[in-house]
Amino acid sequence: MFDAGAFVKEAEAELKNSIPGRAIIACSGGVDSTTAAVLVSRVIGDRLLAVYVDTGLMRKGETEVVSETLRTLGVNFRVIDASDEFFEALKGIVEPERKRKIIGEKFIRIFERAAREFNAEYLVQGTIAPDWIESGDKLRDTIKSHHNVGGLPSDMKLKLVEPMRDLYKDEVRKVARYLGVEVSERQPFPGPAFAIRIMGEVIPESVEIVRTACAIVEEELEKASDRGKMERPWQYFAVLLPVKSVGVHGDRRAYGRTIAIRAVDSIDGMSAAYSKIPHEVLETISVRITNEMKDKVNRVVYDITNKPPATIEWE
Ligand code: XMP
Repeated sequence: MFDAGAFVKEAEAELKNSIPGRAIIACSGGVDSTTAAVLVSRVIGDRLLAVYVDTGLMRKGETEVVSETLRTLGVNFRVIDASDEFFEALKGIVEPERKRKIIGEKFIRIFERAAREFNAEYLVQGTIAPDWIESGDKLRDTIKSHHNVGGLPSDMKLKLVEPMRDLYKDEVRKVARYLGVEVSERQPFPGPAFAIRIMGEVIPESVEIVRTACAIVEEELEKASDRGKMERPWQYFAVLLPVKSVGVHGDRRAYGRTIAIRAVDSIDGMSAAYSKIPHEVLETISVRITNEMKDKVNRVVYDITNKPPATIEWE
């Protein structure tokens, strides 16, 4: 049985020696990075700077929520708006692995910049076991390069500290709860964010569509589970597909985009079963998405694939 208290105690003792100087951490607001930030901040205080990079690819209201969370937890942090830089770098890119590599590399460059300004020598990351297992080692093929592993350039100057690299998702949540991290109940959100939930080129307009759809999926599934209509899935979101299809708008022919809803049940993200969401809940989501984005989306589908053979994310 995993003991969060014992893990924290051991990690703190180790961190005391492994970070003698200043460190920065990329804080995405997810459970992993927030927990890592709090864990390290407890040991080195303001010698840690948590950097939140606004990539322009994050969820609705994310920047505000993350800032508030870090402030409440007493972590020294800074917000950097780099959305223009990310959109520029992703122009014309459709291949998933390239997107991941570009985003990972950009992240690191931005941190390096922030690190120089902060005189940091160490880079703390909230990497957990599935991140590096799935990024491939000598024994496995690469399934996907998770952005906090695959994107690391070989010439990185900062020394890497990954205090949670042996933990699985359920264990991270236990540690988060133990540390009083309020985000511990939030569903996981991938590092490359909406870039890997847009099939095809990542442009601001597509991000806006998938962000709006994703917020609707989250709201409706949380509402339905709060009302006891269903169990809350482990992870649930929207994906923007590259296909356009024909529909009708009043008496007009419409030609719009397609949103796929993805919701899965899982323990650690390594395998997953698609969630058996009641049809009426799916319908509410579909109606809201097509009503609230009338000119853009006219078809909504539900992904009924398990992992394996699919993965949870579409890219
Ligand atoms: P997949 O799609 O590989 O996802 O079945 C498993 C879990 O990992 C999340 N995920 C990521 N998390 N960086 C992350 O921090 C990434 O690059 C990344 N890719 C996928 C995914 O959301 C799911 O919870």
